Amino acid sequence: MRFVIAITGASGSLYGIRLLECLFKAKENVDLMISPAGLMVINSETDLQLSARPHETHQKLVQFFEIKPEQLRVFGHQQWTAPFASGSSPPKAFVICPCTNGTMASIANGLSRNLIERTADVVLKEQRKLILVHRETPLSIIQLENLLKLAKAGATIMPANPAFYQRPQKIEELVDFMVARILDHLNISHDLLPRWGNGVSL
Ligand SMILES: Cc1cc2nc3c(=O)[nH]c(=O)nc-3n(C[C@H](O)[C@H](O)[C@H](O)COP(=O)(O)O)c2cc1C
Repeated sequence: MRFVIAITGASGSLYGIRLLECLFKAKENVDLMISPAGLMVINSETDLQLSARPHETHQKLVQFFEIKPEQLRVFGHQQWTAPFASGSSPPKAFVICPCTNGTMASIANGLSRNLIERTADVVLKEQRKLILVHRETPLSIIQLENLLKLAKAGATIMPANPAFYQRPQKIEELVDFMVARILDHLNISHDLLPRWGNGVSL
């Protein structure tokens, strides 16, 4: 079984890119989906300049992460032939990082209009791990209710809220704070951060 990662169009695409890098470093295989808005945000927040064509994105990311081609599969937004579009082939875990209000609302209402929403629907009904790295502020009652509904349905809500007690000096350290917490929830060992009580204290 592989991890499935989706990057949607919320600010914070660096979290998703760094998460992919850490999973590859841990020798995990990953299936990736990027929403059209996610692509736009990646291309404005990073130098990656990815294409809307999955095979071109695959080529670019294989080069960028220096991985074997088979470690990554990239799926299109409506590619219903993806294994994890069916409950018969659920992923090890599904992380949407970052996750928009829009995708979060669609999942909370079971819309399944694209492969990202459908995968979340499958993962929830099969009672597998779904992690939403949601980013928005402030939050309306509609968004809070959607998040509550998803938490009740079994999703893990991990808002993109990095901490500062480790005294970060660089953006990368803020990104790593979030990615470390996600990896913890995926049971992937890492040394991205010293843990509280083990070198970090007042
Ligand atoms: C640069 C940029 C940053 C954005 N940041 C956010 C954000 O942090 N949270 C959010 O919910 N939407 C954000 N949006 C809006 C979403 O991209 C938009 O609602 C889109 O329809 C979401 O589609 P998706 O969920 O399929 O990716 C942003 C859009 C752009 C262009």
